[in-house]
Amino acid sequence: MTPFYTLCSLSFVAVLFGCGPTPVTDTYSEVGTDGWLKGNREEQLEEVAHQLGGFSRTMVEVGYRYSELYWAGEDENWKYAEHQLVHIIEAMEDGLKRRPVRAASAVEFMEKTLPEMKKAIAVEDKDSFLAGYKTFTAGCNACHAKEGEKFIVIQHPLARLSPVRF
Ligand code: HEC
Repeated sequence: MTPFYTLCSLSFVAVLFGCGPTPVTDTYSEVGTDGWLKGNREEQLEEVAHQLGGFSRTMVEVGYRYSELYWAGEDENWKYAEHQLVHIIEAMEDGLKRRPVRAASAVEFMEKTLPEMKKAIAVEDKDSFLAGYKTFTAGCNACHAKEGEKFIVIQHPLARLSPVRF
């Protein structure tokens, strides 16, 4: 049977029955080649949001990039250092969009700590970089303390995680 909302998409039916805009929840379909996204649009969006993960997922990415940033500085690979910082900013912004409840604790980090790290990279000098990286690390830990995650203590990495060398 043709659902009512499909009929509503025909303009003369919409005029006759006074149909409003089609509610999002009425759109049923399977998306993707494997059809793994099931249910109505609302259920599909919920599943996608769940798959993207919360702040912990953001932090795993930030943690990796934080480590890569360190080795970039050690290698004096300033373009790679900048690349990592840009992606840390992007990951933080996306993570805070998904978990706005974390945003208040992140204000100083976003507005002060990150721009300061950017400046320290731009100097293209290892000593300036390492001094900036120390302040940067303190910024990570300050937010963890504010968020009740004091047990997640960040310190500069001791070993490389990726095959990127310079
Ligand atoms: C909003 C402030 C905030 C800032 C800024 C922040 N973190 Fe976090 N971090 C958190 C919170 C909250 C958690 C716990 C997330 C959870 O469990 O949902 C966390 C968890 C982590 C974890 C553990 C992730 C896991 O689940 O395995 C790592 C690693 C981490 N942060 C690294 C960093 C690094 C490195 C920085 C700085 C470059 C940083 N964080 C900056 C709030 C922050």
